[in-house]
Amino acid sequence: MRIAVLADIHGNLTALNAALDDARANGAERFILAGDYIFDLPWSNEVTETVRGLENAVAVQGNKEGYLPGFLAQDRDEWVYDQFGPMYQTVRELKPENAGYLLSLPQSAAAALPSGRTVYVTHWFPGFLSGGKTEAISSRLFREASQNPAFGRRAFLRRIDDFLQKSYVTETLSGVDAGAVVFGHTHLQWHGLCGDKLVLNPGSCGQALDGVNGAAYTLLTDTPDGLQAEERRVPYDVEAVIQEAKQSEVYRRGRVWAELIFAAMRSGFDTFAPFFALAEKLANERGQSGVPYSNEVWNLAAHEAGYG
Ligand SMILES: [Fe+2]
Repeated sequence: MRIAVLADIHGNLTALNAALDDARANGAERFILAGDYIFDLPWSNEVTETVRGLENAVAVQGNKEGYLPGFLAQDRDEWVYDQFGPMYQTVRELKPENAGYLLSLPQSAAAALPSGRTVYVTHWFPGFLSGGKTEAISSRLFREASQNPAFGRRAFLRRIDDFLQKSYVTETLSGVDAGAVVFGHTHLQWHGLCGDKLVLNPGSCGQALDGVNGAAYTLLTDTPDGLQAEERRVPYDVEAVIQEAKQSEVYRRGRVWAELIFAAMRSGFDTFAPFFALAEKLANERGQSGVPYSNEVWNLAAHEAGYG
């Protein structure tokens, strides 16, 4: 039995289809999806419909779906801010049945396999990414570390091994009754062991931030000896996706956001952290508080960073 594990699609239908085609060609019969299906690229309806239509699938909400209840309100104050333009448009375009499906998804779920093993899936564990506990798993720190040519895959996996031995990780995961634990959110693909549990992040299908282009997902094989993980990266035409996205109303509503996404897709690295750091600095200089940034600050940051 093979199971395809996917996360962080972010409206990228081409990447999702590339990953699903590859997974089926490699014998995947079940699917585990760890959230963040919508926003960013303009195919949120199509991605949602594809996920809804998957046979033998277990899916949970990501933080993007978690924003939906607020964004579905018609009188959000945030709509006046340029930075929320793409979200405004995406929510306007989202079909009610797709919004209903996304809202119906749980925060976490357990996928029972025919072998009797269980795979626990959630988008993320909040405690792993708060209070500075981001040593190994943040796309921001991954980008910073990658400035050093000596930082390669081996160094990254050493960070993952360290992370999986942190007490806040071992204590959290020891409370999860499953043979494997899946979470996404950081857009970095890895797998490792925490005690006897397989722990994995399948990376981002639609918006990889670990320096490697292509649709990331992980193929799990349920063998008599245990669960085995194979990390997959399926090439697709990133530039064609970007050019098509530029024809959309989502793009016209939020060019700066879209250009940040495109730069991340082209480079494979987190473009948001440095951009938001710049916006924060510009806001502070004007005596303004942070998110949401005023349109003045947002567009000035875009201009200075070359996105506007
Ligand atoms: Fe995400």
